[in-house]
Amino acid sequence: MVRENLVPHTQVVLSLENGELAKLTPLGVEVYNFAGVPLNKYPRTLSWNPVLIEKQGFKHFMLKEIHEQPRLIRASLDTYLNYDWYPTNSSEMPIKLGLPAGLLEDLEQIQIVACGSSWHAGLVGKYLLEQIAGIPTMVQYASEFRYAPPPLTANTLTIGVTQSGETADTLAALAMEQQRLTNQQSRFQLRLLGITNRTESSLAALTENIIDIHAGIEIGVAATKTYTAQLLAFYCLALDMSYRRQVLPLMRLETILNGLRQLPALMESVLEVQEDSIQKLADQFTDTQDVIFIGRGINFPVALEGALKLKEISYIHGEGYPSGELKHGPIALLDAKVPVVTIAQPGSVYEKVLSNAQEAKARDAHLIGITPRNNSETAEAFDQLIPIPEVEELLSPMLTVIPLQLLAYYAAAYRGLDIDQPRNLAKSVTVE
Ligand code: M6R
Repeated sequence: MVRENLVPHTQVVLSLENGELAKLTPLGVEVYNFAGVPLNKYPRTLSWNPVLIEKQGFKHFMLKEIHEQPRLIRASLDTYLNYDWYPTNSSEMPIKLGLPAGLLEDLEQIQIVACGSSWHAGLVGKYLLEQIAGIPTMVQYASEFRYAPPPLTANTLTIGVTQSGETADTLAALAMEQQRLTNQQSRFQLRLLGITNRTESSLAALTENIIDIHAGIEIGVAATKTYTAQLLAFYCLALDMSYRRQVLPLMRLETILNGLRQLPALMESVLEVQEDSIQKLADQFTDTQDVIFIGRGINFPVALEGALKLKEISYIHGEGYPSGELKHGPIALLDAKVPVVTIAQPGSVYEKVLSNAQEAKARDAHLIGITPRNNSETAEAFDQLIPIPEVEELLSPMLTVIPLQLLAYYAAAYRGLDIDQPRNLAKSVTVE
């Protein structure tokens, strides 16, 4: 039983480690190891309050969790940003992640392992770590990494991203890396970091270096608030490393920090302004069987996330693609029955994305644009617009994902599906 389901019944838990078993007797619980030796184990109290697992007026937990995002991001910013820092105040650090200094020193490379939405967050993280902190970063599915790990290299930080802290493949990938690095023949130092919503999960048994995303219990199987909270963790990590390594000019760093502080209000405005029109748009997906999501650069992972959200809860096939790749194959799928949801964020790839959208439109596809621009150019490229506030490209994934979460939610709601418990899926995948 996952912890969310336990909380209404009890908050006191006694967790078993691998290799332990419990015997329930009329007098209580006895715990043994597999050799039959009795163990002294002490229960602990979960910090989660049962009120947190009520729908609070929302029809589904997923919708509630989508709406919680601005508040949670605001709280995380308050936790992790140092409001006393400014560019000429070198006695303060801009970010307070509480990680041991040695963990991030002299890094030459980062590898991120994760699954599902956490993997998508890792892809955005790669973009941020490379563009803000200048560190080469690779992102691997944990389930693939385990069977084809890259050669060990010096000064490499391995980051496991898992909201639950219990995903078997992610844990196994990290454990394997731990073993490879502590092997006597390895010349390299072990550096592990976890990004999670569960600081007391199995992930914590692997590493003490944790960034807590502070998203509160997420009941909906589809990750929403934990995804944006993971993104925020990557923004903080990338900015912290940029400062330590003196990569970006301090004024630029300050601009990004100020931009981050604006995000919660902008997320609120997307929810307030767009929810009704996205619901109407989703209602048009009655006979839709396939939806293509395209984006480029930092918004390519957001396209992947939009497609995953749609398929896992509405059972409509969604495919996320970098828009420049459309013409290398997927364009053959397009016709008037296939909506193409396009993230067109002004910045380095904006014109390219618009021209990719035009290519899709020329194949009769129905083009839906998520963009802050409402002008003749976007009117020409898109049949329907979902306007979002304009922020700099680097920060845009925090906003562009919200319409996609709502689109998936309302497409599934229109079909009367069990949104919080979609078929065949579990909240934590604890088997390989
Ligand atoms: O708990 P984790 O972050 O490790 O979970 C990883 C995936 O199982 C998870 O993101 C899954 O893809 C979600 N259902 C996505 O909405």
